[in-house]
Amino acid sequence: MKTPSLESNTATRRLFVWELPVRLFHWALVLLMILLYLSIEVMDNMDRHAQLGYAMLALVLFRIIWGFVGGTYARFGDFLHRPGKVIRYARTLPEAKPDTIAGHNPLGGWMVLVLLLGFLTQAVMGLFSNDDILFDGPLSDLVSKEVSDTLTGLHAQLFNVLLVLVVLHIAAVVYHKVRKRENLTPAMITGYKALPAESTAEPSRGGKSWLAAIILTICAGVVYWLVG
Ligand code: HEM
Repeated sequence: MKTPSLESNTATRRLFVWELPVRLFHWALVLLMILLYLSIEVMDNMDRHAQLGYAMLALVLFRIIWGFVGGTYARFGDFLHRPGKVIRYARTLPEAKPDTIAGHNPLGGWMVLVLLLGFLTQAVMGLFSNDDILFDGPLSDLVSKEVSDTLTGLHAQLFNVLLVLVVLHIAAVVYHKVRKRENLTPAMITGYKALPAESTAEPSRGGKSWLAAIILTICAGVVYWLVG
């Protein structure tokens, strides 16, 4: 029997779920991760790597604050659920039918938090690291050389962990498309998600771009002050 598809099924509704600040955050994060990797592996430019790392820190700090004051589905309160709900959701994963959830699903929600904390930890450790030649992270003076060396090693290892998490994240998006016939990616571009007609979710509210701009500017200011 053919899998019910949100693309072929006409009984769908288009719901506004991801406000502009969340979408810009997402693709800026993707771009920064690629550039951070290239700055080391291809350009071998520590100064550029550090600058990109500061931008990453400001961006992640912004998203953490946005998790409290952003639009309906950007809030931690919307997508971080108790273990019971996560397990119940996980049991439905093999079902070949689209979810009716508007925001992050209960499993994906925790993945979002893990990714955010992973990138935050990575950026903070970078501030304390050194390359044993010309570069000392802006906060490396605050710790001993031994601690700085340890954090440098962890910084390199955590990158590999983040890569695995990103691969898992993309694999989950592909799984939802192939098995559950849910095309999640366009929603991260346009803001509108295609949901089954029976979904009763409301469109996202709040999440104003001017508020995001103020918060991001403050986060950038804090990082500038920290590393300046
Ligand atoms: C470096 C690579 C990537 C990282 C670090 C990353 C990280 C994240 C994070 C943190 C979120 C949560 C967004 C938020 O609530 O603010 C997210 C959501 C999402 N990402 Fe990515 N992402 C990456 C690559 C991709 C790619 C390549 C795609 C598409 C093919 C993608 C598709 C999505 C989608 C569709 C969502 C929303 C999922 C949902 O509907 O719950 N991501 N990603």
